[in-house]
Amino acid sequence: MSQNLIHSLFRKEVLAMSAYPVADPGKLIKLDAMENPYQWPEQALEQWLKTIKNSPLNRYPDPQAKSLAAVLKTLYQVPTESELILGNGSDEIIQILLMALAPDAHIVTPEPGFVMYKQIARSLGLNYHGIALNAEDFSLDMPAMLAAIEQYNPALIFLAYPNNPTGNLFSEQQIKILLQATEGLVVIDEAYAPFTDATFMQSLTDYPNLLVMRTVSKLGLAGLRLGYMVGDKNIIAELDKIRLPYNINILTQITTEFALQHGDFLTRQTQTLRQERDALLQQLLQIEQIKAFPSSANFILFKSLNKDASAVFESIRNQGILIKNMSAHHPLLENCLRVTIGTEQENALFLSALKKALH
Ligand SMILES: Cc1ncc(COP(=O)(O)O)c(C=O)c1O
Repeated sequence: MSQNLIHSLFRKEVLAMSAYPVADPGKLIKLDAMENPYQWPEQALEQWLKTIKNSPLNRYPDPQAKSLAAVLKTLYQVPTESELILGNGSDEIIQILLMALAPDAHIVTPEPGFVMYKQIARSLGLNYHGIALNAEDFSLDMPAMLAAIEQYNPALIFLAYPNNPTGNLFSEQQIKILLQATEGLVVIDEAYAPFTDATFMQSLTDYPNLLVMRTVSKLGLAGLRLGYMVGDKNIIAELDKIRLPYNINILTQITTEFALQHGDFLTRQTQTLRQERDALLQQLLQIEQIKAFPSSANFILFKSLNKDASAVFESIRNQGILIKNMSAHHPLLENCLRVTIGTEQENALFLSALKKALH
């Protein structure tokens, strides 16, 4: 089809976008996407295979994923007044939320932040405003956030807690000030919940405009694509009208439920990753040629102080390890790279590759 015809068919926002880039890891050690590097224990795998053996693949899945939703509610102490919506990854929940808003709605979020907020908001033609974080420690620029609330009266504010790609937790007090200052919804995106004890789940009853979003991806189930969001029953009921009826496939429903109920090993793995993160940060802090930022997630952001980040990234890749070069994502990320916490051995290999790359 001719480009002219294509241009006449699609919205200008879509034409102006680029697809979300995902690097092909080939045989590289993959420390770029905040995945859990560990496998399931053999015994758990065998039990799981027995569980899925009789799945009715010929039938549509339960449209409400009732059994899985009940397990999630109990496990994560979802307040009884709140309701839950499930998505094909939290990416889909972000999409559902934004699709439900009025076409002239304004969205506010601190930057640098998770790119899908902007990508989806822009694709839908919504008014997106990224508010720069404070440069020295990536904390919220409160005067700027409050001014944005005043100026745009945003329908929705996204706050990733901890934030991706900076890894820090914003101040709980400041978030509560924003929750009170805005008339719109505030989504606390707790994608990295397995790596911190901080959560807003228990504040849901205090703030009717608060929505808490999570995912099982970082816990160790990224391949299943399951995200969920908790909030006021009436808000969730509206969003549920936009959700496609069978968005959570049967294998994801059964497997996630199984993993959460037999998932002591996942908890042990995330505990190990927390220790590995703290150990790696200590090592990175000793390297003079970089500035490493503290993290409450399963990744660490660091800035190359003398060498161009692209050269550091390439050198590490040539040594067999894939991390993420964040330089182009935001002016505050100039010369910054992000490494996902891997196994002890992978982290050691990364550290020695980084040291070589910096020389
Ligand atoms: C802050 C944040 N939210 C949401 C997601 C998306 O998670 P999911 O795999 O559930 O789509 C990510 C993934 O990197 C993230 O960093």
